[in-house]
Amino acid sequence: MRILSGVQPSGRLHIGNWFGAIRQFVRLQSEGHDCFYFIANYHALTSSQDKAFVADATMHLAMGMLSLGIDPARSTLFVQSDVPQVTELTWFLNCVCPMGLLERGTSFKDKVQRGIAANVGLFDYPVLQAADIAVYDANLVPVGADQKQHLEMTRDLVGKLNQAWGQELLVLPQPHIVESVAVVPGLDGQKMSKSYDNTIEIFAPDKATSMRCMQIVTDSTPLEAPKDPDGCNVFALIKLFAAADEQARIAQAYRAGGYGYGHAKKRLGELINAEFAQARARYAELEQHPDDVRDILAEGGRKARAVAEATMARVRAAAGILTHR
Ligand code: ADP
Ligand code: TRP
Repeated sequence: MRILSGVQPSGRLHIGNWFGAIRQFVRLQSEGHDCFYFIANYHALTSSQDKAFVADATMHLAMGMLSLGIDPARSTLFVQSDVPQVTELTWFLNCVCPMGLLERGTSFKDKVQRGIAANVGLFDYPVLQAADIAVYDANLVPVGADQKQHLEMTRDLVGKLNQAWGQELLVLPQPHIVESVAVVPGLDGQKMSKSYDNTIEIFAPDKATSMRCMQIVTDSTPLEAPKDPDGCNVFALIKLFAAADEQARIAQAYRAGGYGYGHAKKRLGELINAEFAQARARYAELEQHPDDVRDILAEGGRKARAVAEATMARVRAAAGILTHR
């Protein structure tokens, strides 16, 4: 089975990215599937035109994914823009995509509603994402729940292209969403997201992580009073990291009273720092060897281009696009 997913280089990796997406990437890789993972730098251009920011976030993501367990010997890791065929397929998909399909896009509608001048790239974002998936004949796409609509649009667009030019041209992909961790809450209880400044970063120093945990929003129940673990943002995050027996003990301490939110936040910081200690050490090591990372991306790009070119040769011929190379 061909697995494919991408992450935008639009900021630092956070624990929502880990539970919602990258942990599944690593699991699927260990199950022996043919995995393609990439850094969606063309998607990032829809929200940032800051050259240093995009370039820096791209390297951060590459090193982050490698440190978290993406193994270049088993998975193809590459950068979106190293495969020009993806923007080429975007054009074919654009030409079978009804305007109405994109006008229903929630992230585009959000921006327009907030009075932000959305660019055409943002409008077309889901079509580029559909091309990302279809150009590699992907069967399964591991993502967080926020990507559900994009996957539905991808399936629509694949159907439309096949209807226009040939039933078996593109593979119809399925989303792979793990419901129990589909939405990791941020410091304010909303979905954790780079765009809401409510994240806990994976690759921050221990001290910064602990300080970030202290900023989680809680109610003002006094320390001695009993508390409800199930309505608490701190406990929601503890559940992701603590073993079952510790979870049960902490839940009981909440209900008994005399256990403050401060205690819970401190413990959460320790749990996160322990969970990512190994990955952070690997990251520090990779930072010393950026050329090795670039070699891995170059090799991944070569493999990805070969697959993408085979798809495009099929699509061009089927659409009556004559090539003279
Ligand atoms: P962000 O919302 O911070 O910009 P991205 O859009 O880059 O994150 O997401 C990369 C991957 O991580 C996607 O598959 C997305 O669904 C997943 N993801 C992001 N935030 C969360 C979250 N809070 N909970 C679960 N999954 C998430
Ligand atoms: N839109 C995705 C996100 O914000 C990133 C992405 C781009 C992606 N292309 C993709 C995810 C293809 C899966 C498959 O997280």
